Amino acid sequence: MSKLLSNIGFKFMCWSFKIFKRKDKILKMLVETNIKPGDIILDFGCGPGNFSIPAAQIVGDKGKVFAVDIHPLSAQFVQKNAQKANVTNVETILTSCKTGINENSVDIILLFDVFHYFKDIKSIFTELHKVLKPNGSLALQIHHVDENKALNSIIETNLFRVQKKKELMVILKKILM
Ligand SMILES: C[S@@+](CC[C@H](N)C(=O)[O-])C[C@H]1O[C@@H](n2cnc3c(N)ncnc32)[C@H](O)[C@@H]1O
Repeated sequence: MSKLLSNIGFKFMCWSFKIFKRKDKILKMLVETNIKPGDIILDFGCGPGNFSIPAAQIVGDKGKVFAVDIHPLSAQFVQKNAQKANVTNVETILTSCKTGINENSVDIILLFDVFHYFKDIKSIFTELHKVLKPNGSLALQIHHVDENKALNSIIETNLFRVQKKKELMVILKKILM
């Protein structure tokens, strides 16, 4: 299981995101994922929902965002931010791994700035592999750890392959069993 931030640590992280996470960069990253109306999105390690809320606005009423985080405060932040943005298609899930989402149902998984928290890579990527549609994409942004080492540890699971490296992220596809 990943290390859980203290409540103060989590609030400090949300506060620093407010100051340093630029809306134009968030949108640019979402565009790089090829998100479109009607998509089902899994924002794994969503924090306060910096990506979940704009993603929900893009996918619209026919789409949905699952905002998943290990921290109990995350859902409060996401729900408050969803209300502010008048967004109703976000479902919060509190977990460190198993999501309860239907198999083969997610179009895009956002794995942004969270990989460095993972201790049990195999279990988490097994869950992500399970819920992603056969042609779905896993959009990975790596921070705080060496990108090649991180990618190698994912490739070693034999669950995902790198499809392309983009400016702000790496897109992975699931290996079909
Ligand atoms: C640095 S924040 C990034 C938040 C968001 N993805 C972003 O880029 O703005 C990392 C988040 O991942 C969550 N997290 C860490 N390990 C996790 C796990 N195993 N399962 C779910 N969430 C996790 C943390 O609680 C934290 O909210």
